[in-house]
Amino acid sequence: MADWSDFIQQIKRQNDIVDVIGGYLELRRSGANFMARCPFHGEKTPSFNVNRNLQIFKCFGCGESGDVIKFVEKYESCTFVEACEILAKRAGIPMPENSSNREDKELKERKKKRETYLAICRDAARFYYRAYYSEVGSVARSYVAKRGFDEATVKRFGIGYSPDVRSLPQFLRSKGYDMADCVKCGVLQANPKGEIDALAGRLIIPIFNMQSQVIAFGGRGLDDYTISRGKYKNTAETPLFTKKDNLFAVNIAKEQKQQTALRYLVVVEGYMDVIAMYQAGFKGAVASMGTSLTEQQAKWLSRLSDTVYICYDGDAAGQKATVRGMDILDRAGLEVRVMTVPEKLDPDEYIKKYGAEAFEQLIEQAMPLPDYKLQLLERTFPIDSPDPAKRNNALPKYVKGALTMLKSLDDVAQARYITAVSVKTGYSEDYFRRKLSEGDTDVTEVAQTQLSPDEKAKYFVASCLLHGEPYATLDEKPICNTAFLSDLYDYLLQCSAQGQKPAADMLYTVCPNASAEQYAQILDVDMSKARRPVNERYFGECKRLIHAEKLRFKRDRLTQKIKENPSDSSLLTELAELSKKINDLR
Ligand code: UTP
Ligand code: MN
Repeated sequence: MADWSDFIQQIKRQNDIVDVIGGYLELRRSGANFMARCPFHGEKTPSFNVNRNLQIFKCFGCGESGDVIKFVEKYESCTFVEACEILAKRAGIPMPENSSNREDKELKERKKKRETYLAICRDAARFYYRAYYSEVGSVARSYVAKRGFDEATVKRFGIGYSPDVRSLPQFLRSKGYDMADCVKCGVLQANPKGEIDALAGRLIIPIFNMQSQVIAFGGRGLDDYTISRGKYKNTAETPLFTKKDNLFAVNIAKEQKQQTALRYLVVVEGYMDVIAMYQAGFKGAVASMGTSLTEQQAKWLSRLSDTVYICYDGDAAGQKATVRGMDILDRAGLEVRVMTVPEKLDPDEYIKKYGAEAFEQLIEQAMPLPDYKLQLLERTFPIDSPDPAKRNNALPKYVKGALTMLKSLDDVAQARYITAVSVKTGYSEDYFRRKLSEGDTDVTEVAQTQLSPDEKAKYFVASCLLHGEPYATLDEKPICNTAFLSDLYDYLLQCSAQGQKPAADMLYTVCPNASAEQYAQILDVDMSKARRPVNERYFGECKRLIHAEKLRFKRDRLTQKIKENPSDSSLLTELAELSKKINDLR
């Protein structure tokens, strides 16, 4: 028997690339080549090239290129083997057989079963579809009209109606299907009195796979009695369908991608959200059907686009499982953004209330995953709370959470978010870098016994100011890595701005929740007259250290900016000036 490489050669010989692509796209001859509008990125003027002699395609717009198999793989959003199957079928070539005959026989049988199940699902969908437009379907039609879905949308999704428990089994039997098969693929349910349609009385939403084959159904209850037994009922696990591994409307997103190339996908929770979005013009939406995202779903998504917007109902988004799902997409290499729909509305309700343009705004305002995680973190640990007790309590926990988030980022993103988190918390960038390089994400308030020279300087300067030392002046806020220092310096700067002398006993009011060690660092300093000359010199040194740390902080940020805008020469000049200032301080 021919092996795979022979098989592939044969496929390619018997599937001329111009003929195959010509079956999908409108090709125009142009010299020795054929041209089309590229299906892999949106474009108005054709830059997609097909060459018959070389049997290859190349798009000069997006760079995509390859042979006929690669084209089918990309266009059909399928795997290499599936693409081979499609092309083998097209040319009437049998697929290579497997090593052992027994294995092959089993495989053939499984395939045949699969074909049967798919046929049952397809016929059931047709039955439901006809019932929807029949007399008994008027309840479903008026429900759909009440929800504002139009005829074209209903047709596009193949929406149907199940009139009762008996009609579908009767129909399937009349088509000659084995009732056991109908039960196996989840279309019918076994019952002591014979097989029944478990979705009776419901609006039917067929679920398609990537090849646009019906593999399952969702049924929405239309009256209170049905809803009381579950607003939706879905096909249970079958050989064709597992809810957690599939996404509703991948077929529609795929076809949309073939027409215009999808810049991004939107993942929502519900069937109705996808349908409402489609009607409002957002045709790249799929639904996770109410479960948290899995690796298999991530694979489907990455076949369709490399950017995914998550748009979950307001209350669900904060849940741990949801964030875990987002992490799965992130690890699959997808660019993840998180949308927030106000007022706890779902996308369907939001579009109905505020319109498509407002929804588009929500898409534009979506947050990158790291920002979203920081936002969630802040909701749990309110580090900007006006209540200092709450704030101080929250800070180490927030920092710990931020470290965990930072750990999952690549180098470039990490550098950017270290700056953001440092500004947000007052902990220095060095602190985060050190923690990350040590792989240590345990955070307590910085141990007071082993203060770094920079930290010691901050305590000493604050102490001199609070003691009212005559030489002590303050003109800038240091980088503060504890809430204690940050609050204290805010107070000291405020005094200085108002020309007032700080009062030492304000310490307990301004920082009511600091530790005994922290108070001691400020209060247990010898400020006697005899010590004054020594203290004064040390004070000057401390201020220089504090200033140097700020300049280094600025320099780090600037270096990051330069990485992002390497052509901006004014940034380089700024950097040179800053470096000089830092050197001069030494
Ligand atoms: P929702 O309750 O948010 O669905 O559940 P929805 O689409 O907004 O429904 P409408 O607008 O009230 O008609 C999200 C998804 O979770 C699954 C369904 O896939 C649903 O679309 N679900 C929900 C179930 O499977 N069973 C249920 O009882 C409820
Ligand atoms: Mn809804």
